[in-house]
Amino acid sequence: MRALKAILVASVLMPAAHAGAADLEVTHWWTSGGEAAAVKELAKAFDATGNKWVDGAIAGSGGTARPIMISRITGGDPMGATQFNHGRQAEELVQSGLMRDLTAVAEKEKWKEIIKPASLLDSCTIDGKIYCAPVNIHSWQWLWLSNAAFKTAGVPVPKNWNEFVAAAPALEKAGIVPLAVGGQPWQTSGAFNVLMVAIAGKDVFQKVFGEKDEDVAAGPEIGKVFKAADDARRMSKGSNVQDWNQATNMVITAKAGGQIMGDWAQGEFALAGQKAGTDYTCLPGLGVNEVISTDGDAFYFPVLKDAEKSKAQEVLASTIVSPKVQVAFNLKKGSLPIRGDIDLSAANDCMKKGLDILAKGNVVRSVNQLLSADSAKQLEDLFSEFFANPSMTPDAAQKRFADIIASAD
Ligand code: GAL
Repeated sequence: MRALKAILVASVLMPAAHAGAADLEVTHWWTSGGEAAAVKELAKAFDATGNKWVDGAIAGSGGTARPIMISRITGGDPMGATQFNHGRQAEELVQSGLMRDLTAVAEKEKWKEIIKPASLLDSCTIDGKIYCAPVNIHSWQWLWLSNAAFKTAGVPVPKNWNEFVAAAPALEKAGIVPLAVGGQPWQTSGAFNVLMVAIAGKDVFQKVFGEKDEDVAAGPEIGKVFKAADDARRMSKGSNVQDWNQATNMVITAKAGGQIMGDWAQGEFALAGQKAGTDYTCLPGLGVNEVISTDGDAFYFPVLKDAEKSKAQEVLASTIVSPKVQVAFNLKKGSLPIRGDIDLSAANDCMKKGLDILAKGNVVRSVNQLLSADSAKQLEDLFSEFFANPSMTPDAAQKRFADIIASAD
């Protein structure tokens, strides 16, 4: 009798676990300070549903993490959810039937009506089914400048790329690296893509990466971009860092004048207590062509046998898209939300610039949305070599660039 009573008491006192609550391992490559602060917002919101976020952070860049994610999924050891960029990185996994179809959740929650721009959900859609939950919009199209570095160099903070290039000698004279660039391949190819939009414009960018037009890729407009890439290569000598956030830290500590980097850099400035406008200046489209790109991230969900975990996957997808999480996560991440019906008055001046450009529709799709992962990788290898090898001339690099575009898919 006493044992029965003890069980009864225990069952009344113990909080009933949510029916179907489950632990989900979530893999991502957000390991910088700012990124980790943003992940905490996702984890907190998911834990509040009664499920549990088991963090599967993979250090290094996306280029290091994605092969690990893919081999786990294809190797029969899938995680509960994983980050990929907007675009085609999970295309083959979906086509192999290894990823969850989220169409039911998306239709129930009207994602087609609330997720903007539509290209984000288009990138999740294969054969009419929706396979990912977009979590943010990041734009590569930014130049981040250290106000203190230009003060030390005795020159005004540049208002655009050309003024930045012209200020390089003064920065160097003051012992400051003009342009901080990390050594990982995705950073040099990313910088080139940003120079293309700024110097050659949106239409040329779309022709080259959208239409794979090899004549334009080999032409004079892109020739100007390679000249700018040569300037950037020269200005980045002395960077000597690998990770993007180490390069951002060079700007934060005024060891470098500037960095071409996506607006995830904002998370680092925020964590360092630096204020947009006061401590650092942000130039969208390098101050030349105010454009943002729809880079950024989405979560994909491998097919799992466990019914409770599968239910928890749907809860996580819904949590990611929810208004509250969209505000809490993106303010920490420095990214823009994937829905327009939320209050972002807490956004800083740079995020507000990005929101204005997005509202004006001055947007290009990301290279990851336009090229296959394989073609993107070939370009990363080219620009990694170009920045590391000063003997590679801009003309020789452009010739290889045009060849890659000619066979890109
Ligand atoms: C990008 C990702 C961003 C950012 C960056 C650096 O691919 O979209 O969220 O964190 O990598 O890790």
